[in-house]
Parts: sequence; C-alpha cells; structure tokens
Amino acid sequence: MDKSETLLSIRDMHTYYEDSYVLQGIGLEVPLGKIIAILGRNGMGKTTLIRSIFGLTPPRLGSVEYKGQSLIGLAPFRIAQMGLALVPQGRRIFKNLSVLENLQLPTSSLAGSHTKKSDMHTNEGRWTKEKILDEFPQLRDRLQNGGNELSGGEQQMLAIGRALVANPDLVLMDEPSEGLSPRFVLHVGEIMKRMRSLGHAILLVEQNLALALSVADHVHIIASGRFVFSGTPEELKSRPDVLDEHLGVSGAKSLDDIGAHA
Ligand SMILES: Nc1ncnc2c1ncn2[C@@H]1O[C@H](COP(=O)(O)OP(=O)(O)OP(=O)(O)O)[C@@H](O)[C@H]1O
Ligand SMILES: [Mg+2]
Repeated sequence: MDKSETLLSIRDMHTYYEDSYVLQGIGLEVPLGKIIAILGRNGMGKTTLIRSIFGLTPPRLGSVEYKGQSLIGLAPFRIAQMGLALVPQGRRIFKNLSVLENLQLPTSSLAGSHTKKSDMHTNEGRWTKEKILDEFPQLRDRLQNGGNELSGGEQQMLAIGRALVANPDLVLMDEPSEGLSPRFVLHVGEIMKRMRSLGHAILLVEQNLALALSVADHVHIIASGRFVFSGTPEELKSRPDVLDEHLGVSGAKSLDDIGAHA
C-alpha cells in the first residue's frame, strides 16, 4: 500500500481496563476512501479498538497515527477536530435535543476547525444538513421531534447523519446495523457505499457478516484482542474454518443474506 494513501495507521496497540488486558497487539491501516471492517464475537475487543483510536480508552502501548500525526494523548474533541467522527455503539444521540439540534451540534462545536480547512471533499461531495435530510427523509419529517421520540432505526439514521455533518475524512462506525430491521440494514449499507464514493473512509465494526462482506474492501477478524484473520471479503468467504471458529457461521446462506445476523 502506498504510504501517502494511508489515512489511519495503528501499530502494535495494547489496551487495558485497569488490570484487564483487552487489546493485545493490534495493527491495521485504513487507506483513503476505503471501508475496512472489523468482525468478531461479543466481548472480543471491537468497541475497545474504536475507543482506543478516539481517545476514550487510550492504549497503554503502541502507535495510532492519523495523516501522519499521533493521536496518542489527544482528547476526543481534538481528534474530532482533526477530521474523525464516531458513530458509537447503541446510537448515542442526544435524546433531550430535537432532531434539528442534534444535526446542528457538530457544526457549531467544530466551527473554525477541520470543517473549514478540509480540501479532501469537493463542494459537490460535501455533506450539508439538506443533503443529509435528503438521504434520510424520515428525519426531515421529524425535525422538531425530540430524539427520544424516534424509532431505533431513526435514531441510528440521526447518529450517522450527525457524524456526516462535520464532513469527516474518516468515520468510525460501531455496529451501525445493531437492532435494525432488514430494510434499514440495507439502507445503512447503501449509505456506507455512498460515503466511500464521496471520498470518506470508514472503519466499520459489525456483527452482520453479510453487510460487512457486501461493503468492505478489507476485513479483519478479532478474537481475544488479536487479529486472527485479515484479508478481502472474497478470501474470507473461502475460509469456512475461520467463519465457523470465529464467527459461528456454518453454511453459506448467511454470507449473502444481509437480513440474517450471523
Ligand atoms: N469499561 C470497561 N471496564 C472493564 N472492562 C471492560 C470495559 N468495557 C469492556 N470491557 C471488557 O473488555 C472486553 C472487550 O469488550 P468490548 O466492548 O471491546 O467488546 P466488543 O467486541 O465490542 O463486544 P460487543 O460485540 O458485545 O459489543 C470484554 O471482556 C469486556 O467485558
Ligand atoms: Mg462493542
């Protein structure tokens, strides 16, 4: 991989919660404009990896570089100002704020920083509040509604929309399909592909194998804090032993059925 194309680079990352040793030497790269997926069973360290990158649970050892700059020791808001966005697991929107307020918050808090300086997205490719509402028409109908009045799917749309408002170059998405109906899962897949075509890179954590395989350029499987498989979706599909041992998938059906969780 050409070094100049690498947006995020992680080397030998080790992360603990006090004495509990969770990430045990993770290395990965996210190139510009690509979707990299992390798969793995519950409790294997996927969210911890996202938290480690975003400054929420900093690693004890290892390096995390974004556009050649170290993120180690930076607070999450500084990391966001550099052009990263997080769609956290469990769609954490501000439930006491309206849909509109949720969408306006990132631009007001990031004003004057990355959002104005980025030259990576053309004007045509930039997300505006209007474009986001075109993407999620059900949110447009509920702009004044409180976040607590939305369905689970609508909350996830809002969480994704809120991440896009700041036009991040890299979006970290932690199980965006969790708890969504098959129709919404398909929509989330389409949004991710559209984001990639606009030049965004995505680091995607997923348990929906079919969704991850349908969008990712490269896949890593994590087990007990280490990568046990790294390759293309096609390479993973040809490894029934890995699918069975680390994702509990036996049989090929669920590889293509986005509506069926592995
Ligand atoms: N705040 C915390 N304090 C202590 N241990 C934690 C904390 N958060 C997670 N862990 C532990 O770290 C390990 C990895 O958790 P993590 O949340 O990263 O898993 P995950 O792969 O995201 O799981 P899931 O698919 O259920 O979201 C688990 O053993 C979990 O119990
Ligand atoms: Mg998790």
